[in-house]
Amino acid sequence: MRLQLMSWPEVERYLEDSEGVIVPIGATEQHGPNGLIGTDAICAETLAWRSAELTHSAVAPTLSVGMSEHHMAFPGSISLRPMTLVTVVRDVVLSLARHGFRRFFFINGHGGNTASLDAAFFEVYTEAPRIMDRGDELRCLTADWWDTPSALRLSEELFGDRDGDHATASEVSVAAAAWPDHVKRVELASDGAPTTRLFGPRDFRRRYPDGRMGSASQLASVQAGERIIDAVAKDLAEAYREFVEEE
Ligand code: NI
Repeated sequence: MRLQLMSWPEVERYLEDSEGVIVPIGATEQHGPNGLIGTDAICAETLAWRSAELTHSAVAPTLSVGMSEHHMAFPGSISLRPMTLVTVVRDVVLSLARHGFRRFFFINGHGGNTASLDAAFFEVYTEAPRIMDRGDELRCLTADWWDTPSALRLSEELFGDRDGDHATASEVSVAAAAWPDHVKRVELASDGAPTTRLFGPRDFRRRYPDGRMGSASQLASVQAGERIIDAVAKDLAEAYREFVEEE
């Protein structure tokens, strides 16, 4: 159930049965010549919505802009500063916590968000007990969808060692399955430059001229994306259930 499509009495009733909520978080950044700018947010929300169907859980609005400083030499990318993202995540969690939510399961589509998510969770753990009843019972967890057992297995099966580290064939496939009318028909003669290191935006573009890190995103397909969504949503639903039921 998407929170945006619920009424407040529905949310109130939901809270009588569950204190859990799924929060999709992604990014708005270049994903190579054939990847959508919204790939990370699209992957996170597609998997969040599917996992929520399997678990009858509420899903918060997608946090679609993340920490993407290293992609800023490519047009269309938008970045929050790390501390801005910490504050956004903290405010979202504490808002929902005021209504009674206590388990926050972040389905994450972007590795660049990880440090800010971790920092935000400890901001929440510091602040919540001081400002609300049962604030010390609040728990937040990040699930990186690409790191689930099914995502790792299918990455290997579908793309071997050519999935890459950014604008991966897997994530481009998931976004293609979500938005099949927006698949880009682009000829890509070779794979992205091999992954080395990651610093600032100008250096990123020098190392990875077409925006991909080691990825053969030309192998992406709607069919592959549908398989990944089906399997990974089940993994995430299982992880969510464990998280909300854990003592
Ligand atoms: Ni991505």
